[in-house]
Amino acid sequence: MALLRALGLSHAFDYPLFNSLTFTLEAGEAMAIVGVSGCGKSTLLHCCSTLLEPNEGEVYFNGTLLYGKDSNHALHVRRKEFGIIFQSHYLFKGFNARENVELAALLADSQIDQSLLDNLGIAPVMHQKIGELSGGQQQRVSIARVLAKKPKIIFADEPTGNLDSLTANEVMDVLFEYVDTYKAALMLVTHDEKLAHRCNSVFALRDLGLQRI
Ligand SMILES: Nc1ncnc2c1ncn2[C@@H]1O[C@H](COP(=O)(O)OP(=O)(O)O)[C@@H](O)[C@H]1O
Ligand SMILES: [Mg+2]
Repeated sequence: MALLRALGLSHAFDYPLFNSLTFTLEAGEAMAIVGVSGCGKSTLLHCCSTLLEPNEGEVYFNGTLLYGKDSNHALHVRRKEFGIIFQSHYLFKGFNARENVELAALLADSQIDQSLLDNLGIAPVMHQKIGELSGGQQQRVSIARVLAKKPKIIFADEPTGNLDSLTANEVMDVLFEYVDTYKAALMLVTHDEKLAHRCNSVFALRDLGLQRI
């Protein structure tokens, strides 16, 4: 069974963004969505990741409806099964990096993987306060925090937007390795086509539809 199934998704704000999108995301698969700024990539990611109920259509996680009668279900899935990485991170400023990652692991009944910190290159800075870290280091801590809870699906919205290209590729390596190891899935939104093509499938959001490229 697909980990994620989107059926006939449509959404509009001031203008229609997408119309009747249908796709699936399987365990072990990474999918990328590219498209010009303002075309609705983030909105689509939000619809798939419990953050926004689409105007029309259905989203299923592991066969269960996200936006059904039981509104607690989406919340439960978001907490336990989904990891959402934003362009700008939301770390607790007063805490150090380790406390930020530990808190996420604790909330999810999980444990921090030392190799994760090593691969992200943040092991040496885990004792530092968030405010003392560079933007790139902060983003890597926020990715460690998301992976610490061992999500089944990672939703990443321009996750490497504020990283240099070498660090961006290293961070993507960590995400791909995670997906492979845990048979999880990744839905990546990016305007960087080169990065997108490291995924198993790449779609362009244009003319209200998804076109495979
Ligand atoms: N919560 C919202 N309320 C109203 N308009 C929104 C909201 N979120 C996004 N939009 C609008 O929808 C369009 C698509 O936004 P977005 O999904 O962020 O595009 P992208 O991520 O591809 O740049 C933009 O015109 C944006 O201003
Ligand atoms: Mg966006």
